[in-house]
Amino acid sequence: MNELDSLVTNARESFARSATPAELENAKAQFLGKSGRVTELMKGMAQLSPEEKKTRGAAINVAKQAVEAALAARRQELADAELQAQLKAEALDVTLPGRQRGRGGLHPVSLTLERIERIFGSMGFEVADGPEIETDWFNFTALNTPEDHPARSMHDTFYVEGGTPEAPNLLRTHTSPMQVRYAVQHVKKHRGLIDAGQAMPEIRVIAPGRTYRVDSDATHSPMFHQCEGLWIGENVSFKDLKVVFTDFCKTFFESDDLVLRFRPSFFPFTEPSAEIDIQFQSGPLAGKWLEVAGSGQVHPNVVRNMGLDPERFIGFAFGMGPDRLTMLRYGVNDLRLFFDGDIRFLSQFQ
Ligand code: DAH
Repeated sequence: MNELDSLVTNARESFARSATPAELENAKAQFLGKSGRVTELMKGMAQLSPEEKKTRGAAINVAKQAVEAALAARRQELADAELQAQLKAEALDVTLPGRQRGRGGLHPVSLTLERIERIFGSMGFEVADGPEIETDWFNFTALNTPEDHPARSMHDTFYVEGGTPEAPNLLRTHTSPMQVRYAVQHVKKHRGLIDAGQAMPEIRVIAPGRTYRVDSDATHSPMFHQCEGLWIGENVSFKDLKVVFTDFCKTFFESDDLVLRFRPSFFPFTEPSAEIDIQFQSGPLAGKWLEVAGSGQVHPNVVRNMGLDPERFIGFAFGMGPDRLTMLRYGVNDLRLFFDGDIRFLSQFQ
């Protein structure tokens, strides 16, 4: 192989070894650069005779063109490879299923709250909302709950740092503070009528919302829901409460096949007090007594704290657990499922 042929072969090999455009430019310099091998050969022609220059020059030119062609070919190869790599990296796999937009929906407990509001609304009850950070007064004292009541202990109640007994200082442990909050507003609005001995529009309200206690197991969560009910007038009786609550349960559970029982109990803010139990006569829960609410006749001290005369006004209150109602309605046995936020569980209620 003559010197020029081996130069071309060397150049081809060197270009082939260059894996990147930068390496290729370095390799090019070794052959075609200012002091590259081809350029050196050209310079070496200076001493030759015109006759020799002609043949030698033509031969070197052929070699140079071959080197340039090899360079161009390798450049193209590298550019193609780069394009392929880029296309591959950005490839759209059109065989993948499209990304689906998740369907939103209401939480099962929200569905229950909506149901409760709708049913009581149809029976003439207002829906009221109140603060979750409460004062000692509304959460306990106004509800006839003495200073030394066990529910006040740190074990049950979340206290807010920096709070004072006068200012909001705890997370409400129940929705019952809404009884006095709502009644006070109502009474203020109708003070004139009341003082003139005229009929006050009855207080008929429910107050659903979040409540908090230091408690956590399969049936207790530190945050849970309650729905308070309050009905106050001059002529309301336990019988009315029983009728309304029975209607509510039948509508809520979509079953006429259930009975209620009022079981004597104790709450500081009612006297007498009762737990309301229901019993389904058929279906998967048939035969068992299930506790669904606390209730009672509003204690005279609480009626007084509402700004009303307990000799004239009588009232009934109830407090139920929408979480528990949801568990019963759908047959869920662990309360924590509601608050874990697992989409696989929650999407079953849509
Ligand atoms: N607040 C009570 C609790 O959290 C529930 C309750 C019982 C509410 C009796 C009432 C009632 O309105 O009359 O355990």
